[in-house]
Amino acid sequence: MRGRTMGLLAAAVLAVVLTIVGFTIVTGSNRFGPGQSRSTGVATVGGPFTLTGTDGKTVTEKDLLGKPSAIFFGFTFCPEVCPTTLFELTALAEQLGSDADKLNFVFISVDPERDGPEEMKRYISAFDNRIIGLTGTVEQIAAAAKAFKIYYAKVPLENGDYTMDHTASVLLMDRQGKFFGTMAYEEASDVMLAKLKRLVKEG
Ligand code: NI
Repeated sequence: MRGRTMGLLAAAVLAVVLTIVGFTIVTGSNRFGPGQSRSTGVATVGGPFTLTGTDGKTVTEKDLLGKPSAIFFGFTFCPEVCPTTLFELTALAEQLGSDADKLNFVFISVDPERDGPEEMKRYISAFDNRIIGLTGTVEQIAAAAKAFKIYYAKVPLENGDYTMDHTASVLLMDRQGKFFGTMAYEEASDVMLAKLKRLVKEG
């Protein structure tokens, strides 16, 4: 009996120790919080791109350096995710006030066949005027999406038209163009605001 009690006790102690060790490993790896994975060796998000602004001029990753960026990929025909996100970014920019000027807000089209610079200009005029609209050739968009690990795909509609599937996250990049974190679609506004404030300060 005594032996069994000791055995159970030893097992219980071991379980507690393993739990503590496991917890330490988990919290250790999350020490920097979600999205701050600079040192964990995840695939690099971000990189060189060559796109076209709404004024028809070339914009590259170098034009964004010096300020942290919030980058969102989408398309002007998007029925829901894109307008919702752009209205959210507009509201967040207003709440940030002058701090919003310390960030680049970037909307990149994944539908270059329909979204030329003129279409982008018209579309983003409905949102905060600090949002920069970028488009490009099919190849340029593919390269930019690849660099930022963005998924997108053309989805045929029954009427012969098409829509686009695309990653709905907003990518946060620091002022050196390095990945800083993400904001998920329909994340709570106050959480997004806190993330952007931290991006302004630490990005
Ligand atoms: Ni969309």
